[in-house]
Amino acid sequence: MSQPSPTASTTPRAAGAVPAPAETGTPFAPDLSIGSRHTTPYEDYVQAGVLTHLQHPLSDDPGEMVFLVTTQVMELWFTVIVHEWQTAAEALRCDDLPVAMDALKRSAHELTALNASWQPLARLTPTQFNAYRSALGEGSGFQSAMYRRMEFLLGEKSAAMLVPHRGAPREHAELAKALDEPSLWDEVLRLLARRGHPVPDAVLRRDPALRYEPDRAVEAVWAGIYAGSGESELVRLGEALTDVGELVWRWRNDHLVATRRAMGAKMGTGGSAGVAWLEKRARKSVFPELWTARSYV
Ligand code: HEM
Repeated sequence: MSQPSPTASTTPRAAGAVPAPAETGTPFAPDLSIGSRHTTPYEDYVQAGVLTHLQHPLSDDPGEMVFLVTTQVMELWFTVIVHEWQTAAEALRCDDLPVAMDALKRSAHELTALNASWQPLARLTPTQFNAYRSALGEGSGFQSAMYRRMEFLLGEKSAAMLVPHRGAPREHAELAKALDEPSLWDEVLRLLARRGHPVPDAVLRRDPALRYEPDRAVEAVWAGIYAGSGESELVRLGEALTDVGELVWRWRNDHLVATRRAMGAKMGTGGSAGVAWLEKRARKSVFPELWTARSYV
């Protein structure tokens, strides 16, 4: 916006226009006369009034607020990351590697921010966690539909994971759709095949609703790509995906360690064996052949 000239203060100002700095003595003079509007343009866009009134702790413990808000913040990051990976998958489907790369790189920064949000919960003692744990009832992050969509996009498909969402039609429908769609990894492998790399037919025509299983021929394809020029765009794609895989693995491990500190070997509120179950989940490799191929380069 252009700055008014010093003489402009003598000019009548339209009602509601921002006063010139000279009139108010402040460098930043917002228009406080919202008039008949019930909201602000900021509110229209951000909906902060909705967002900041969604916090309803279930106990009297003052430490529960940060547990709840951290969980909500993580849900928002999951939502952004799902958006990025869907953008990347769609771009790969259209052979638009630059758009896919941009989305993957953004998602790596977002995953870094997501992982940083473990900080307030990373050192809970069992006593601190117990102060509100029972109020959570059977509620568990295991029931997070957006996290499940992230996992589906990574190829970690499971029809059984739809079961907790039977009572929520919107989430169930979104998950059912995501289960049947090719994952981000499926789209990567199809792109490699279109570029002449020998990805087996069985991999290309696999049922996308099933969990992706690592394949030796795909591993060989990646070993070949990495053995070529370090500057190749497929190596850059491989590295962007490896960043994503590493950061997801870090989220899982930070979650595991925070859980171990907060509740030891107790059962989870969602009914799992707790830490033992999370250890198994954290051992899963994201984009497995991108890791194993390195042994053959
Ligand atoms: C220190 C606090 C936390 C503890 C002690 C904890 C504990 C657990 C446990 C024991 C499970 C296994 C399922 C169950 O039986 O409940 C679980 C799963 C899960 N939690 Fe947490 N959690 C914590 C914080 C969070 C936060 C802040 C989030 C963010 C959304 C979260 C998201 C998840 C997700 C997505 C799963 C499912 C993981 C999978 O399917 O592999 N958790 N959590």
